[in-house]
Amino acid sequence: MTTSEKITTAGEDNAAEILDLQKRAFATEAEAHGKRDIEPLRQTLDSILADFATHTFLKAVDGDGRIVGSVKYRALDDRVWIGKLIVDIACRGRGLGRRLLAEAEALNPAGRRFQLFTAASSIHNIRLYESVGYRVVREFRDPAQDGFMMVEMVKVVNGKTN
Ligand SMILES: CC(C)(COP(=O)(O)OP(=O)(O)OC[C@H]1O[C@@H](n2cnc3c(N)ncnc32)[C@H](O)[C@@H]1OP(=O)(O)O)[C@@H](O)C(=O)NCCC(=O)NCCS
Repeated sequence: MTTSEKITTAGEDNAAEILDLQKRAFATEAEAHGKRDIEPLRQTLDSILADFATHTFLKAVDGDGRIVGSVKYRALDDRVWIGKLIVDIACRGRGLGRRLLAEAEALNPAGRRFQLFTAASSIHNIRLYESVGYRVVREFRDPAQDGFMMVEMVKVVNGKTN
């Protein structure tokens, strides 16, 4: 577990660096699925800038000022959608992904229901989310996600059940 990176809210001026990190981070997912043309690798700067208008982005910055991790979230009523959890390949396996998730949860009021999607075949991702309390609630094929089988995972905080 590492605590050396500082996690704070990102601004639009970080969009290009986060997009660059996203493309490097998801390259391993693309490789695992044998498909390079996946949405996180195709996303444009205009598109991620549009996401900044609707989502809060967190960034993890290392001692040299580089962004080495990020996650975005969007609260809608009592639900919080989590997306694009990414950690630089060189910084993985030291707890940074879990810290980013925990920070996104901590920044939202208690009683909210956290939801996210990941590929059904991304066993490592599913294991990571399960280890911090998320559960698979449905599996579906998503045309918007290149036709991949996806799972929706939910974490209910403070005993809220729906
Ligand atoms: C998913 C991701 C953010 C995890 O970041 P991280 O800093 O390594 O995560 P942590 O160190 O907090 O947790 C490590 C856990 O991640 C899981 N994991 C996720 N991807 C993994 C991989 N490719 N190889 C090994 N473990 C992986 C393991 O279960 C590991 O659990 P363990 O600590 O019990 O061994 C990072 O692997 C990444 O950027 N992946 C590519 C983008 C992606 O798929 N994001 C998720 C989208 S839904």
